[in-house]
Amino acid sequence: MISFRPKVLNDKEATVVLLAAGQTHAHFKKDLEKGDIYPVLEGAKTFIFVGLGKLDKLSLTDLRIQVRKACLSAYLSKVKTIEIVVHAKDEATVIAIIEGVAIGTYVWDKYKSRDKNDKTIKDKDVTIAVEAKESYIDAVTICKGVSLTRDLVNDNADTITSDYLEKAVRELIKVHKNASLEILNRKELQAKGLNLMLAVNQASNKEPKLIIVKYAGGKKNEGYTAIIGKGMTFDTGGLNLKPSNSIETMKIDMSGAAAVCGILKNALALKISKNLLFVLGVAENSIGSAAYKPGDVITGYAGKSVEIGNTDAEGRLVLADTFAYLVKNYKPARMIDMATLTGACVVALGFDHSGLFSNSDELARELVESSKKTDDRVWRLPIYPELKDYIKSHIADLKNTSNIKGGGACTAAEFLHQFTEGTTWAHLDIAGSAYTEGAGRMYYGHGATGAGVRLLTHYLLHN
Ligand code: BES
Ligand code: ZN
Ligand code: ZN
Repeated sequence: MISFRPKVLNDKEATVVLLAAGQTHAHFKKDLEKGDIYPVLEGAKTFIFVGLGKLDKLSLTDLRIQVRKACLSAYLSKVKTIEIVVHAKDEATVIAIIEGVAIGTYVWDKYKSRDKNDKTIKDKDVTIAVEAKESYIDAVTICKGVSLTRDLVNDNADTITSDYLEKAVRELIKVHKNASLEILNRKELQAKGLNLMLAVNQASNKEPKLIIVKYAGGKKNEGYTAIIGKGMTFDTGGLNLKPSNSIETMKIDMSGAAAVCGILKNALALKISKNLLFVLGVAENSIGSAAYKPGDVITGYAGKSVEIGNTDAEGRLVLADTFAYLVKNYKPARMIDMATLTGACVVALGFDHSGLFSNSDELARELVESSKKTDDRVWRLPIYPELKDYIKSHIADLKNTSNIKGGGACTAAEFLHQFTEGTTWAHLDIAGSAYTEGAGRMYYGHGATGAGVRLLTHYLLHN
């Protein structure tokens, strides 16, 4: 829990003091370098002095990293109550500190047994020594949305099924009268002809689902913004089976849909005054005798036929039908999708940025702006008219793989683009940014990062 109070009272079990170069404290006179953590024990009370270095060299990312490091340090492991004394009180700084605590100390330990001698206290009450402001309380709220997304991504693929996601969405919107739900299960998908989505799910023992929440938070005549997520609850690759070292993490292939849940939670909690659609295209790319096959030609909801060049390029198929269904039945003013779509995006950008593609310079600019404000990073990559030549097929209208080597994130984005029917649209390829393996990166620990949640919550709040 995070709370605020303007006075420093030193009444908690521990006080974390953030010190920029040149700043001093009554209990501490030394000069600290950036990254230094220095404990001072006074009876039962612990002071932790955290060196931030020169302020002009301290990025807000650095600050989040240092706050995380202090909160996770062994000195604080048995402490339940912490006060944080800030080095500066401007809004961006305080929000970075909030995120250093809330995002930085998140751990996924549902399945980890604890040693009975382990006295670690995970759930801490953190008081930040600044006056409470609406934007700070909102920042705490937004981090809860991020945590929901991370929990959904981190759990087992056979736990977070399409049924589970449906229940999670129902639970989120339960008491909200301005939110309504449409769900297309296998039967409805068949009746309406969302055959691309059905094909991907064909070998699965689980129900495919298109989940659409309509949230009327804005004015009656205002257009709807659709927030769409790829929800592949597991991606084996299908008959083009993924090899070892690629398949192990594919429970994360629903990170887009999980981010939609986090943003939905935030939109409801913050009462965002916009008309919004929250859309989860959920399927499982399984393998078995019923699986769809390389070389198949399948006509989806848009009436366009698609040659299956590779059953592992399944996300774009689910999104194609999702876009087509939305465009025809909901006519959104704009669509923004998040998808762990391509390994190529990871090759291009690594893990610290989501790939951003858009047919609108204005929307792209707004998203880049939100990205800079939230540190939920994006980098724009191109789509351009000639790309469509690379996804041509000899036997169908389109192919789900590219005829050229290289640029796989761009050709995948162009495939999606073909199903937008002129709707203003942006696509975030979060294949690299949604998850971090090993010790973690920046202020994210091992596992899901919640990529896209802070970004799009900010976008919706400010545009
Ligand atoms: N889910 C994967 C993309 C992915 C890769 C996500 C790594 C997270 C980390 C996607 O469905 C996929 O397999 N894409 C293929 C497309 C190819 C067959 C054209 C890829 O990127 O290799
Ligand atoms: Zn795949
Ligand atoms: Zn996939």
